[in-house]
Amino acid sequence: MSGKLRLAVFVSGGGTNLQSIIDSCHQESYPAEIAVVVSNKSKAYGLQRAEQAGIPTEIVAHKDFNSRQEHETEIIRRLEKHSVDLVVLAGYMRVVTDVLLKRFFNHARKLPGVINIHPADTRAYQGAHGYEYAMGQLEQHPERLAQTKITVHFVDSGVDTGPIVRQVPVPIEAGDTLDDLRARGLKVEHQLYPEVIRLYAEGRLMLNDNVVTIIVGAV
Ligand code: GRF
Repeated sequence: MSGKLRLAVFVSGGGTNLQSIIDSCHQESYPAEIAVVVSNKSKAYGLQRAEQAGIPTEIVAHKDFNSRQEHETEIIRRLEKHSVDLVVLAGYMRVVTDVLLKRFFNHARKLPGVINIHPADTRAYQGAHGYEYAMGQLEQHPERLAQTKITVHFVDSGVDTGPIVRQVPVPIEAGDTLDDLRARGLKVEHQLYPEVIRLYAEGRLMLNDNVVTIIVGAV
């Protein structure tokens, strides 16, 4: 055993965040490794990224199940052989339930075992289309913001409501298109997500009363 934190990265699409985690895991000193990539979509490009990197994949189509809980029960069954410590949602377009959250709760660290990245401030906006939200391009949110806040958070049973681990502001410049903002934001996502996984792996995260503390210095 390498002693590294073993990740299951869940994707539904292109998987640029997955790629940033794959690249981080290639550094010998990085304290995590990807045990498996899971997708609910057989055509997700993220699966090809995993295969190119020699990482096992599990495809579990949600359409084959009658409920979220049954879908997750099958995912959990498939994950047993991969010895997963932490579930990393990376563009996984499914709301998860207590079935998954309970299975991966990390009792030793007293921490949730599922994390997610969101392109907006989860206190202000939850759900899909976070960059469109920040650009004021959603019918219900026509106001363009001065910045978005890339957020990594622990997952709870709500939609993007779990305790925030870290946020990084990304400015929205005059003249930006949605693609400009997305490109700028994804660059930040690709740095931030591997950094948070490192903090988790190094035992630097604590959660008390729904508030995350990051331990700096020796642990
Ligand atoms: C990212 O913007 C992430 O914040 C959001 O979904 C997108 C996934 O992109 N949850 P990718 O598949 O990692 O390229």
